[in-house]
Amino acid sequence: MAGLIPQDFIDDLIDRTDIVEVIGSRVQLKKAGREYKAPCPFHNEKTPSFTVSPQKGFYHCFGCGAHGTVLSFLLEFDRLEFPEAVEELAHIAGLTVPRDEQAERSAPTAPIYEILAKAAKIYQQALKDNPAAIEYLKGRGLSGETVREFAVGYAPGGWDFLLRQFPDREDVRRDLLAAGLIAPRDSGGFYDRFRERIIFPIRDGRGRVVAFGGRITDAGEPKYLNSPETAVFHKGRELYGLYEARRAAREVKSILVVEGYMDVISLANHDVRNAVATLGTATTHDHLKRLFRATRTITFCFDGDRAGREAAWRALQTSLAEMRDGRQVGFLFLADGEDPDSLIRSDGNTGFQAALQNKLTLSDYLFRELESQTDTTTMDGRATFAELARPLVELIPAGVYKELLTERLSQVVGLGRQQLEEFVATPPVTVHRPSRISNRPSLVRQAIETILNHPQTVAETKLPAGLDAVEQKGMSLLLELIGIAQQKPDIKPAGILERFRGRSECPHLEALLAADSTITEVSKKGTQLTDCLQRIIASSTQQRLAVLVTKARDSSLTDDEKDEFRRLSITSKTADPG
Ligand code: UTP
Ligand code: MN
Repeated sequence: MAGLIPQDFIDDLIDRTDIVEVIGSRVQLKKAGREYKAPCPFHNEKTPSFTVSPQKGFYHCFGCGAHGTVLSFLLEFDRLEFPEAVEELAHIAGLTVPRDEQAERSAPTAPIYEILAKAAKIYQQALKDNPAAIEYLKGRGLSGETVREFAVGYAPGGWDFLLRQFPDREDVRRDLLAAGLIAPRDSGGFYDRFRERIIFPIRDGRGRVVAFGGRITDAGEPKYLNSPETAVFHKGRELYGLYEARRAAREVKSILVVEGYMDVISLANHDVRNAVATLGTATTHDHLKRLFRATRTITFCFDGDRAGREAAWRALQTSLAEMRDGRQVGFLFLADGEDPDSLIRSDGNTGFQAALQNKLTLSDYLFRELESQTDTTTMDGRATFAELARPLVELIPAGVYKELLTERLSQVVGLGRQQLEEFVATPPVTVHRPSRISNRPSLVRQAIETILNHPQTVAETKLPAGLDAVEQKGMSLLLELIGIAQQKPDIKPAGILERFRGRSECPHLEALLAADSTITEVSKKGTQLTDCLQRIIASSTQQRLAVLVTKARDSSLTDDEKDEFRRLSITSKTADPG
């Protein structure tokens, strides 16, 4: 999605945003020289090692190493998705996010959000006015506090309760329709989608109402009615309760995925505040990606009926592709006829926590399931087992987890590791060792560091000729940085980082930005940069000269090389690499 937001806009946003103001509204910052300090919000500490540099537009914690731009901060601290973080900053800066393709689609969503927020308020008020609906919720054991936390409401009967709360105007009806709140009548006109139902507002990552779920209060069909897909609501993405779970805890240690609205609310009512529900759909990759942004541990806890068990197996298959190292997925199987709501109501918080202890790990569940389908005491059975396991194992990204699972599989099927690997065709795991950072930074690295920390120096520096012909490690990155700084002389270090977001160079640049604490006059930095670039040219000249000298000794210089030799000998006298 990031690609849809023009880079120029992100530059502008970073430029206009005061990182101290944004972080300062979430963490109490104290001024310390040119920077600001606070106890780190990303790890536990007493002495502040979290610093924010307004010049760089960068934060860094010397304790835990957390660092990044103001956008990174919103991703980590507010747990927003990238486009949401951009929206948030744009909102503060009073800007509208332009989208290359979506420009048309995104602008008209503003009135939809407004209408949905207003409808949620109307339904909440209607609940207060409807004793029977309140009785229903009480009958399901919910406290007033829980009902308020989830902004539960009520849609009264009749066909136009909601319609009548809004002005009788065509543009308003168009927005109500786009929000999925009304539907057209065959005979002309419109009617309310939700009638005589308990209303559960579905909120997105920023807490905006994007849709509703409605439960009938007596026996009737369908039991639950959900908003249709709209410009602001995509079932395969939203998770009911995620916003509330994030709000309930600074750090969401684990998340429970359950099936229904009532499960989420009933668990919260018993102080289990980390449950979310998919909205009558299977768990998607999108869901899992969002969940793994918020936590490392996910437990699926579906109903104890056949549908629940099938949903669990599908969830397992979807999870495999997300099983990067450090992530955990578990499955809690309830007794047939039981759901999380009924379990916590009968056994309470303690009983529920105890049941959670019995959850299966993803691999336990996988093996148990395949074992139930095969007879691993026979050779044929073990072959079938391996055959069934193969496509599943292939879904797991390479890493320690995949290794361990393959190991376990080889034990069950009684094949040696190598035979099995050939069978499963696991690509070998590549272990990434942190690249060694040499003690004496190269000239190229020094130049990169200077430009990154003080981009404006480039404009003040006369670039030596021949820089783009230099063949040294890091040169292409250096040239790219020079290009950015020439094009945008006022860019902040954070703005440069944003241009590298997602690229392999980004962590290196972040480290260089975090490491630099020198406070030098910008003019001095300019001189330093000129000096550094000249030395890069000089050292490259020396290297080339050395090659040519060797060739000259063998008398194997071409005419062109003789010319080059003459030219270089002259330049090398004017710029000594020292
Ligand atoms: P369930 O039928 O398991 O309901 O549907 P529940 O959560 O236990 O609800 P209560 O306890 O009877 O109130 C689980 C989820 O499936 C979707 C809803 O999202 C619901 O929360 N669903 C169910 C529908 O969308 N439509 C339906 O008619 C039924
Ligand atoms: Mn239920």
